[in-house]
Amino acid sequence: MKSIIIFASGNGTNTQNIINYFRGSEVVISKIICNYSGAKVLDIARNENIESIIISKDQLDTDGVINLLKQLEPDLIVLAGFLLKLPKSITDLFRIVNIHPSLLPKFGGKGMWGMNVHKAVIESFEEESGITIHWVNENYDEGNIIKQYKCKLSDLDTPETLSEKIKELELNYPSVIKSIL
Ligand code: GRF
Repeated sequence: MKSIIIFASGNGTNTQNIINYFRGSEVVISKIICNYSGAKVLDIARNENIESIIISKDQLDTDGVINLLKQLEPDLIVLAGFLLKLPKSITDLFRIVNIHPSLLPKFGGKGMWGMNVHKAVIESFEEESGITIHWVNENYDEGNIIKQYKCKLSDLDTPETLSEKIKELELNYPSVIKSIL
């Protein structure tokens, strides 16, 4: 048996993909940690009977949270659209992976999330974009790259059509998590 903790702040598309992929397998999602009480990912947690915890930005770097994570003994922490930067006290202690919706090191860093990324890619007339699955350290989007998946862009693409292409590529995240585990 392996266990993972998911950190997510948003709609939870990736969280749902991960839950579906590991349903009935040897991999258990022990908690979903979220920093926003209105996040749709919390509805997913409720529907799937997975315990969720809401943690504020100020709580993230406290003994309470670090001890909770230690007690859970995750084999891996999986970031799936978690918008807060993890403190070094957490990144030093756990193996953590993230998914980013561009081909890092391009279009990464603070503020580069969601449609901001896709708008920047389209405005730069890139010929391709994609997703990056990478290790997490204390700096935004700078950990070693594990795997990238690419898609071609045409002159007709908009941030919205690019976002659909990225969602397709994100379906690969669970199998990369499995190979890491
Ligand atoms: C995804 O695009 C992922 O690449 C990024 O944040 C987004 C999360 O979307 N890190 P969702 O909440 O999984 O729908």
